[in-house]
Amino acid sequence: MKSLDFRSDTVTRPTAGMRRAMAEAVVGDDVYGEDPSVNALEAAVAERLGKEAAVFFPSGTMANQACLNLHTRPGDLILGTDGCHILRYEAGAAAAISGAQIQTLGTGGIFGVEELEPAIQPGDLHRPATRLLAIENTHNSAGGIVFPLAIQKAVCDLAQGAGLALHLDGARIWNAAVASGVALDALAAPFDTVSVCLSKGLGAPVGSVVAARAEHSDPLRRIRKRLGGAMRQAGVIAAGGLYALDHHIDRLADDHANARRLGEGLAALGFEIEGEPQTNMVMFPVSDPKRFLEQTRALGVWINPIDARRFRAVTHLDLDASDVEDALERLAECRP
Ligand SMILES: Cc1ncc(COP(=O)(O)O)c(C=O)c1O
Repeated sequence: MKSLDFRSDTVTRPTAGMRRAMAEAVVGDDVYGEDPSVNALEAAVAERLGKEAAVFFPSGTMANQACLNLHTRPGDLILGTDGCHILRYEAGAAAAISGAQIQTLGTGGIFGVEELEPAIQPGDLHRPATRLLAIENTHNSAGGIVFPLAIQKAVCDLAQGAGLALHLDGARIWNAAVASGVALDALAAPFDTVSVCLSKGLGAPVGSVVAARAEHSDPLRRIRKRLGGAMRQAGVIAAGGLYALDHHIDRLADDHANARRLGEGLAALGFEIEGEPQTNMVMFPVSDPKRFLEQTRALGVWINPIDARRFRAVTHLDLDASDVEDALERLAECRP
């Protein structure tokens, strides 16, 4: 029985075309700035996101944390979204590496000016200095939702006016652009730094990139070196990312359609789906998580819990529409 792996869009394996591009990559020593494939990837990401510069990183976590380190000093406060990756899933790095603390705002991955305004407290010496606003788009733990553009503009304007730096965790910004029809550079426009992942929906095996203003490029490279993330002939992996930019963005619409179909099918089986999927994630609670996990694994359908009661099914490059139908047939056996 074929395993159908809905645990994450990180489980994809490079396609034959991507492997060929990686095998044939022209490389050099990237710590000397001499890897043509890395340089091409950085230029391509900077251009797509409308930024002056970009820096290649081994992972999304390192990319995010390098940005937090760039923008903050020990004791500073970062304002983030409810359930944000930088707080919940990065092993305490903001505290451990940058000595910064994170306060979350709003619910379901979104907050507005009414939550942001009172959270910024300049000048009170009892309070940490509020230094950075960080948004996540799409938002992972909220179920792949897109941060609404009008709200983003309002909160970013307010934060900028208060002198805060702005960071976007855009690990899945590609999904946000395809789902909303808003261009990548428009989604990225207000932010000083934007981290994007190549190894999620885009299907590359490794890699993230931070797009930023030119003045941030060297400081980010220094922080990357300090974190141990400066790589040598990294063009081999950068070539996979370049291939993904050219071939795997538009097809995310298929993943989104597959997620909607999965959501409809699960709802028809009696599962309580949390809203219509906006991108490639379907979220639903189950009454007996342990039993559901065991049953689904036995059926060869791999879905992971995201917290104590909720499960998250993610569609991606290695699952097509017929896999979704196959999964729904199998899941009929564990309907609630
Ligand atoms: C929103 C978000 N940001 C950052 C990351 C971190 O990426 P990585 O696993 O490459 O460290 C992830 C990973 O799932 C993510 O979902």
